Amino acid sequence: VKHILLDVDTGVDDALALIYAVKSKKLYIEGITTVFGNVDVQQATDNTLRVLALAQPRYDIPVAMGANAPLFRPRRENVTAIHGANGLAGYELPQSGQSLVDERASDFIVRKVREQAHDITLVFTGRLTNLAVALAKDPSIAQKAKLVLMGGAVKVPGNTTPVSEANIHGDPEAAHRVFESGIPITMVGLDVTGKAKFGETHFHELMNGFTDEQAALKAFMHHIFTFSFEASERLNEGKNRLMHDPLAIAVVEDASFVEMENYYVYIETKGQLSSGATLVDFRAPQSRTNASVCMRVREEAFLQHYIRTVLS
Ligand code: BDR
Ligand code: CA
Repeated sequence: VKHILLDVDTGVDDALALIYAVKSKKLYIEGITTVFGNVDVQQATDNTLRVLALAQPRYDIPVAMGANAPLFRPRRENVTAIHGANGLAGYELPQSGQSLVDERASDFIVRKVREQAHDITLVFTGRLTNLAVALAKDPSIAQKAKLVLMGGAVKVPGNTTPVSEANIHGDPEAAHRVFESGIPITMVGLDVTGKAKFGETHFHELMNGFTDEQAALKAFMHHIFTFSFEASERLNEGKNRLMHDPLAIAVVEDASFVEMENYYVYIETKGQLSSGATLVDFRAPQSRTNASVCMRVREEAFLQHYIRTVLS
């Protein structure tokens, strides 16, 4: 079992990732921290608690709220076209009875990494703001933990700008600090998550697999995928949902879903048009690297694994 700390900006695909991580028998979630991004941090936190209550109503995973803005920039608008007004495609999940831990996300991360007796993997599926703050508070956590992040675009276009992916573009200075911190990084970027397309066939397979006891989860996932299919059709991107954040969880569970290559990845923070780009040094030889970059994915194997795990 791998021990993980999750940081999310819940969000449609963060919600899909949370459900999957909770159901995974190979992962032990030590805690969850929240950040602005798809929605503001209060909404992301509320969404996280509601999704947790749906997926695992035991209230035993601590949740800490984090940053509501980038380190040095104003926060952008919520991404309502893709995530709906409330971040969960407009679906009203029941409120959760769980209270937050009385600690900032960055302090929670520092404490958990310091205290842990196991190897711990930080899994970030939103902006890297909370980790940048945690590293400023205690730079030594870079030597004690590993990071798997959903973010960046290497050999493919960005999704927020022609060259930048949303999670890096949303706080480039935080990403820069994290990439220069020395923490071992696995980068699960658009090169692979853009291929992980959950389509109609997968949808029917998932819906047909739920038992009667799983009716609430089924209804939620039905809504999330239907909304996502409509959103991607509106953007002329076909009838599918890109499984960005769930793929990051899968890579922690089983790295054989992807092929990685080691590079030095620079984060552009100053560019007028390229802010938030992940610039990868493809020049040989690679004497100095800071990230294992996912270049290829066995998408169908991953999608089948996702469905099996959620139904388990
Ligand atoms: C990333 O941006 C967010 O909208 C998604 O949740 C995902 O983490 C994809 O670029
Ligand atoms: Ca996300």
